[in-house]
Amino acid sequence: MRYQAADAQLYIKNRKKLLEKLPEKTMVVFNSNDIMPTNADGTMRFRQNNDLFYLTGIDQEESILILCPDFPKKEWRELLFLRKTDEHIAIWEGHKYTQEEATSVSGIEQVHWLEDFDGIFAQLMALSEQVYLNTNEHLRAAVQVESRDARFIQFCKKHFPLHNYRRIAPLMHELRSLKEPEEIQQMQMACDITEKGFRRILSFVKPGVKEYEIEAEYLHEFVRLGSRGFAYDPIIASGANACVLHYIANDQVCEDGDLLLFDVGAEYGNYNADMSRTIPVNGRFTKRQRAVYDAVLRVQRAAFGLLKPGITIQEYHLEIGKIMESELLSLGLLDKRDIADQDPKSPAYRKYFMHGTSHHLGLDVHDVGTMYDPIQPGMVFTVEPGIYIREEGIGIRLENNIVIHEDGFTDLMANIPIAPEEIEDLMNQ
Ligand code: GLY
Ligand code: MN
Ligand code: MN
Repeated sequence: MRYQAADAQLYIKNRKKLLEKLPEKTMVVFNSNDIMPTNADGTMRFRQNNDLFYLTGIDQEESILILCPDFPKKEWRELLFLRKTDEHIAIWEGHKYTQEEATSVSGIEQVHWLEDFDGIFAQLMALSEQVYLNTNEHLRAAVQVESRDARFIQFCKKHFPLHNYRRIAPLMHELRSLKEPEEIQQMQMACDITEKGFRRILSFVKPGVKEYEIEAEYLHEFVRLGSRGFAYDPIIASGANACVLHYIANDQVCEDGDLLLFDVGAEYGNYNADMSRTIPVNGRFTKRQRAVYDAVLRVQRAAFGLLKPGITIQEYHLEIGKIMESELLSLGLLDKRDIADQDPKSPAYRKYFMHGTSHHLGLDVHDVGTMYDPIQPGMVFTVEPGIYIREEGIGIRLENNIVIHEDGFTDLMANIPIAPEEIEDLMNQ
């Protein structure tokens, strides 16, 4: 792997936390992701299933984890099944985990080849009262293809129709939303690599440069530093493109006098950074750009102080709305009448700030986690207010990633320049 893997203790700890939440005589099964096809014999790069990764650290296709903690035969209580590697596979595809390596990565002693799976699984099923299986229950998932986990559910229902099947996803969301120190360390690494990319482009951007040339500069820095690349399709949006929230074409020329919005993050060891910054193409903000920038920055700083244990995301977003409303009044974008006439279900500020301020961040960019329960220490969130004024060709978003503590927070992006003077200085060196 090009990344420094977390210690196996992390995965041992994660499995223990999951087992503590399960009833007796339970079995739980997690499948890796498929390697997705493109066209002809082409494939996409492999991306591990995040739940399997969270519980094992195993970063390889065709892997299965079984936990069956009450099974009488001790050595079958925790099992990993992997694709058998041999000389032919080693020559054509490269190195795959040996059984010893898989044990050292995951802390799982019993590593079998997949050919043993059916026989062992049938024996475990015979003594399992309930079987927890994995589904993608992300609130915004829109999945058209059948995952390995989904196929496995069909397999189980066909061959073991009378078992009691249950959902593991809600428990995984709960666990994964609270990050262990080893996970925060990987995320800090993703943020630090993102910082290096941002600093690189500060001396690269000038009028006439193309958005995709900047994309290439980021990627160069990310890959050089051990990242596999972008955590998500990067947004490199100059001028009015910044007002298109999911702009990913990145094919325009950056013009003198325009702003340039980046929403770019590196991945590292399957963990993600999610940064937004906005800079002036020519290295100097205009008075108006600076006024809007300062307003967004004030909202972000206020948001840091609001995102505390005990508050729910809904309550937090209501507070942010009030702060944003007052900034938009000061900028002359809203007036008192707009506020007096507003429908509380669709407040006036939404005209210029139409997305949420914070989401969970981790192995997924929009990470799994509870949306309605109060925020807890150990959660990691983005804080990303923005103001988008299409009629002025101004779009500004500032996004940092913070870890919530009992009292206060850690900003994983504290070293990434955000003060407008600092950005101007760095661009004009
Ligand atoms: N980059 C996606 C987001 O900011 O949520
Ligand atoms: Mn983002
Ligand atoms: Mn985000």
